[in-house]
Amino acid sequence: MIKSALNGFHCISCGEFSPVEPFHYTCEKCGSNLDAAYDYNQIKNNWSRDQLLNNNEPSIWRYLPLLPVYQSPHNTSIQVGGTPLVNQSEIAHEIGIQNLWLKDDTRNPSGSLKDRATEVGIQHAKELGFKTIVAASTGNAAASLACLSAVHRMDAVIFTPSSAPPAKLVQILQYGAKLFPVDGTYDDAFDLSMEVVNDTGWYSRSTGINPILSEGKKTVALEIAEQLNWDVPDNIFVPVGDGCIIGGVYKGFYDLLELGWIDHLPKIIAIQAQGSSAIVDALNSGTITPVKAKTIADSISVDLPRDGLKAIRAVKESQGCGLKVSDAEILEAQNRLAKTTGLFAEPAAAAAFAGLIKAANENKISSDETAVVLITGTGLKDINSAQKMIKVPPPILPDLDSFKERLHG
Ligand SMILES: Cc1ncc(COP(=O)(O)O)c(C=O)c1O
Ligand SMILES: [Zn+2]
Repeated sequence: MIKSALNGFHCISCGEFSPVEPFHYTCEKCGSNLDAAYDYNQIKNNWSRDQLLNNNEPSIWRYLPLLPVYQSPHNTSIQVGGTPLVNQSEIAHEIGIQNLWLKDDTRNPSGSLKDRATEVGIQHAKELGFKTIVAASTGNAAASLACLSAVHRMDAVIFTPSSAPPAKLVQILQYGAKLFPVDGTYDDAFDLSMEVVNDTGWYSRSTGINPILSEGKKTVALEIAEQLNWDVPDNIFVPVGDGCIIGGVYKGFYDLLELGWIDHLPKIIAIQAQGSSAIVDALNSGTITPVKAKTIADSISVDLPRDGLKAIRAVKESQGCGLKVSDAEILEAQNRLAKTTGLFAEPAAAAAFAGLIKAANENKISSDETAVVLITGTGLKDINSAQKMIKVPPPILPDLDSFKERLHG
């Protein structure tokens, strides 16, 4: 096997180094989360932007030299990543900023950005010889694990809060995973999943503790930079729950900076729901205090963020900021996005767009700045929430008069 450029992992709290193998999820010394460390010189010597330009691989595996595994999967029947970055200059104009792009990650196989992490996590698990993978999830990571486990013939064991939207639970079961809905919150499901991992020795794909997952998520940043021809946007709006996606976004841009492929980081803006804002609160207070999360945006409803430190680092190191949006603002933004762009996002994803609108209204982003908004999951997964903004009209009789009466009435 070709040597991966992964050197090992650094603890993000105490800096302790952890080798590639034996693999540990968290720091052996202090228990904090780990961050993958690469030999950037090795990568620079073997890889260039020109080489990437000539690479026809459309999926995340075009970035293999910057990923923490030895190989890409043999089964390439499905494409993870390579999602469109859609320019929305008209909306940018309406909102009052210079330019806007939407990164449409609803186009991933299971309908959310989580597939990026799962795809790399599964490859990592395979390379370490695992067959069974466990996840606790508010729904999307679980649906993603179920989907890609079906593709790569792995066994998936999944814990979700029993309140997860039915579409996500149905998706998980259709893909053939073993589902354990937990009578409790996401946090209860998470704790149980870790007990199961410790008891069985199975691989954990739980967001927030496995450093391989943010490496998968960082591919969204690599793609955005490449799609914008290495000219990074001024701001990038990211919906935040556990903090793993935003940590990955930062890591992607950080890697590119280390390689010299970009010359600065974009400001990373963390968007949370008002009822689930532990990270945005911590940006002001300095400490992460658990909340009793309550928001319509189930995917970002988290009491205690499991990747909070990486999230805070992402915002601080990039000179970004955090913003909270209400459920009403989220639903409004979801509807505006669908009506004006044809992009139907789930509430958690629409929260990032709501955050952009708020930032522009409150002059946190100025009229000469550009922005990318991450659209992290499809609205079809939770139509109950989306129905709050619309009313399905009662039926009309099947004749022209009834049609005209309704049209003009
Ligand atoms: C659609 C969507 N958006 C945003 C998030 C938040 O990601 P993180 O928990 O890594 O902060 C999630 C996580 O489940 C998600 O599914
Ligand atoms: Zn440590």
